[in-house]
Amino acid sequence: MEYAIQHTRTTVDPGTEQDSTVDHPNPIAPPDSNTNAAPASGYLCIAPDVRIGSNVKFSKFVNLYGCEIGDDTKIGAFVEVQKNARVGKRCKVSSHTFICEGVTIEDEVFIGHNVTFVNDTFPRATTNGSLQTEADWKVETTLVKRGASIGSGATLLANVVIGEYALIGAGAVVTKDVPAYAIVTGNPGKVVRYFEVGSTNE
Ligand SMILES: CC(C)(COP(=O)(O)OP(=O)(O)OC[C@H]1O[C@@H](n2cnc3c(N)ncnc32)[C@H](O)[C@@H]1OP(=O)(O)O)[C@@H](O)C(=O)NCCC(=O)NCCS
Repeated sequence: MEYAIQHTRTTVDPGTEQDSTVDHPNPIAPPDSNTNAAPASGYLCIAPDVRIGSNVKFSKFVNLYGCEIGDDTKIGAFVEVQKNARVGKRCKVSSHTFICEGVTIEDEVFIGHNVTFVNDTFPRATTNGSLQTEADWKVETTLVKRGASIGSGATLLANVVIGEYALIGAGAVVTKDVPAYAIVTGNPGKVVRYFEVGSTNE
């Protein structure tokens, strides 16, 4: 998919304090430390290298860098999307979700609140007594296929593929690939049943 690079105009989602399009520099500066007043942008922290499609809506307090966000997608408050992550078109990403490097989310995916993705199965802070750098570990990937839904509070471990129109239940911990149309719950996540093909507005 191709996105026009957009750095200066962003829609702040209704339900916060504004229902309007606002101009903002990238990245947004923090508030004046003397007054603690919020900037009109609502703390949208969007790096210049983010590729944003058309009609993307942001709530307040988002942190995006080096990623892609597709057309008509909605990003909730306190969402972070890291570099080399991709969110497709017409997705809904609910508040407090973390989308890390190595994650690809296809079109029309629903991501609930406080969903966590993982890209390092054996994380360490240091190597030989020094803080790790990117050279010390390899990013692991996750793919969420078209139309899937991830319930609130779910954790998706690295190296998994969530099939088309699958649904991950709230609080599940997904440790392996999920077939298309499957409903998965629990920790570790297990398939409990399947949607009928054609029953999910696909
Ligand atoms: C997984 C889910 C789709 C199941 O819905 P459902 O088919 O209506 O399930 P039911 O409520 O009939 O429950 C069936 C069984 O699964 C259990 N169950 C339901 N959801 C569960 C979950 N997320 N994790 C673990 N068990 C769950 C129930 O306790 C019940 O167990 P029992 O048969 O032993 O009594 C739903 O509960 C869910 O988690 N949806 C995601 C919601 C969400 O996160 N939305 C985000 C936006 S607000």
